[in-house]
Amino acid sequence: MDSSQYILGIETSCDETAASVVKDGKDILSNVVASQIESHKRFGGVVPEIASRHHVEQLTLVLEEAMEKAELQFEDLSAIAVTEGPGLVGALLVGVNAAKALSFAKGLPLVGVHHIAGHIYANRLVAEMKFPLIALVVSGGHTELVYMKEHGSFEVIGETRDDAAGEAYDKVARTLKLPYPGGPHIDRLAAEGTPSIKLPRAWLEEGSYDFSFSGLKSAVINTLHNANQKGEEIDPKNLAASFQESVIEVLTEKTRRAAEQYGAKQVLLAGGVAANKGLRKALEQTFSGRDDLELIIPPLSLCTDNAAMIAAAGSVLFEKGSRAKLDLNGSPGLELTSY
Ligand code: KG4
Ligand code: ZN
Repeated sequence: MDSSQYILGIETSCDETAASVVKDGKDILSNVVASQIESHKRFGGVVPEIASRHHVEQLTLVLEEAMEKAELQFEDLSAIAVTEGPGLVGALLVGVNAAKALSFAKGLPLVGVHHIAGHIYANRLVAEMKFPLIALVVSGGHTELVYMKEHGSFEVIGETRDDAAGEAYDKVARTLKLPYPGGPHIDRLAAEGTPSIKLPRAWLEEGSYDFSFSGLKSAVINTLHNANQKGEEIDPKNLAASFQESVIEVLTEKTRRAAEQYGAKQVLLAGGVAANKGLRKALEQTFSGRDDLELIIPPLSLCTDNAAMIAAAGSVLFEKGSRAKLDLNGSPGLELTSY
């Protein structure tokens, strides 16, 4: 075998069962994702027990496919990296136990990866990371601004105090009777509407990098209720455009301020909401034409949950000497700390 590093990544924290092999921390040899979205759709959100059961059914197949596509044997691997948290505990346990079993059976080192570190490291699969950097992580479960001064070092400088950005999208979509997950539907409607309805922006205290989306979500619901009571029609396209404008304005402006304050050389976008066309455009406009600062936005397939991002983060942690033991557990509330 050559001297390259091969990491098998495993991700089961929510509703995607995923396995991937990444070479030297940045080359994807395989990236297999089995989505469960169809099973959860009719419930309007992810049902934890159903998620766990699907992971159990799918993981072996997904792992075999990832190894086959990478054209490697387990013995060729340098280590196994698995999402240890945060996420749904039952879902996490499936991945963690599979990783531990493989690690024990094949005598391979095991690395526990924080899910958000994974989302951030999806960027390393498309560009070399330059430090210091600011990462904006926006997903169904998280909204965070993370400062990184070097590989493996994470400082959360701002986070949501209530709903995550994706969660707010999904809740607003539900009030507009759009299917789950609602983010892409609101994004599509917003592109066709005009932001004509006045909605709040939660800037919070001066200098804060925290976010809050529950007030905005309530304002949208109130706007709809009030109109209903008066028998007035509200164009969902305009409501979607107004909601989206409020979310994007706050996300973009706080990211810009953080990038300035921390002297960032790069701004990275991560998480499922990175798929949002309005957000991508606003960030591109904000950071375009600057040679001192680079904006990286991974392709969609690497923004939503996948295991290549876990392998990419795992690669760096492995090099830094991080090792998990066989008592590794799923940690639903795991904090993002530096390695
Ligand atoms: O990162 P992700 O796949 O899963 C979590 O770790 O949460 O993110 C899923 C979230 C959902 O809330 C979904 O509605 C949102 O990302 N999302 C979007 C768009 N595409 C997905 N939100 C806004 N605009 C989009 N185009
Ligand atoms: Zn995620």
